[in-house]
Amino acid sequence: MNKTEIYYFSGTGNSFVVARDIAEKIKGNLISIPSVMDNERITINADVIGIVFPVYYVGLTNIPLIVKQFVMKLDKISTKYIFAVCTYGGGFGSTLKILDEVIRSQNGRLAAGFGIQKPQNAFKKPFENKTKLYNNWKEKKLISIYEYVNAKNEGNFDSDGFFTRPIVTILELMMKSHFLKPFFLKSMNRTTGFPNGSDLTIEEIISLMDRSYHTDEKCIGCSTCSKVCPVHNIKIVDNKPVWQHHCENCLACIKWCSQKAIHGYGELPRGYHHPDVKISDMWRND
Ligand SMILES: Cc1cc2nc3c(=O)[nH]c(=O)nc-3n(C[C@H](O)[C@H](O)[C@H](O)COP(=O)(O)O)c2cc1C
Ligand code: SF4
Ligand code: SF4
Repeated sequence: MNKTEIYYFSGTGNSFVVARDIAEKIKGNLISIPSVMDNERITINADVIGIVFPVYYVGLTNIPLIVKQFVMKLDKISTKYIFAVCTYGGGFGSTLKILDEVIRSQNGRLAAGFGIQKPQNAFKKPFENKTKLYNNWKEKKLISIYEYVNAKNEGNFDSDGFFTRPIVTILELMMKSHFLKPFFLKSMNRTTGFPNGSDLTIEEIISLMDRSYHTDEKCIGCSTCSKVCPVHNIKIVDNKPVWQHHCENCLACIKWCSQKAIHGYGELPRGYHHPDVKISDMWRND
């Protein structure tokens, strides 16, 4: 296999595990997307590039803001074999198609894309069988992605399951509609604390949603939340976290706080993170 680099973004570990397992199997380098974002442009020497990330806000953005920015920085990718894996809790809709469009804007193209269902980390999902989802990845999906990518096959754009597909398609259309989009934006906007009528873009709203985050008396000032924040969005001031308003909504701070002291948008289910991930795996090194 040619030289491979696997770039990932992850808040609660689902995408990290997927990226780590693929990198191990393919014998590629595992690199966190935030760790390369200080570069103005990013030139990748590997012939094969993997991009692994969670699906956010199907119908609104689909892709985390930082992942889109990462792709927009990629240089000289026209001859690269690029594949992507998105992890999702319910359905990923046109996420891979949207990613392909962003890659094409940089003169590359997505050769293959895969959606991997994982536990929903943003809310408690009834009847979710987490063990089945974890096993399905290890026993089936990892091997099929490895074989597909190792052979440098092209054209796969995994889609949502037979029953989920129509629901997610309708959801995406609803989110994009002139009637419902403003409704969704307004309800998200409420968490920013700005007046409902303000005309912030969806990207601005996402960045500002940390204005709803606050701690209770259980906070012990350990700074774990600051260390796991992939985008340096938390400063510790007087032993308390202070959010800096360039949030990705990844929920890492809320879910990795051992004291369950952080409240705000997306705090349920409390403490979810992938069981095979250690907190040190999520630590930023820079
Ligand atoms: C802000 C936010 C928005 C999300 N939106 C969606 C969504 O639209 N559709 C979906 O299926 N899952 C959605 N999810 C769930 C995640 O995509 C899923 O749990 C993912 O595996 C989490 O990956 P991570 O553990 O690597 O952060 C969302 C999660 C968050 C935090
Ligand atoms: S991780 Fe929790 S306890 Fe530690 S500083 Fe952050 S909010 Fe406080
Ligand atoms: S502040 Fe919390 S939710 Fe926002 S990017 Fe950092 S860890 Fe993620």
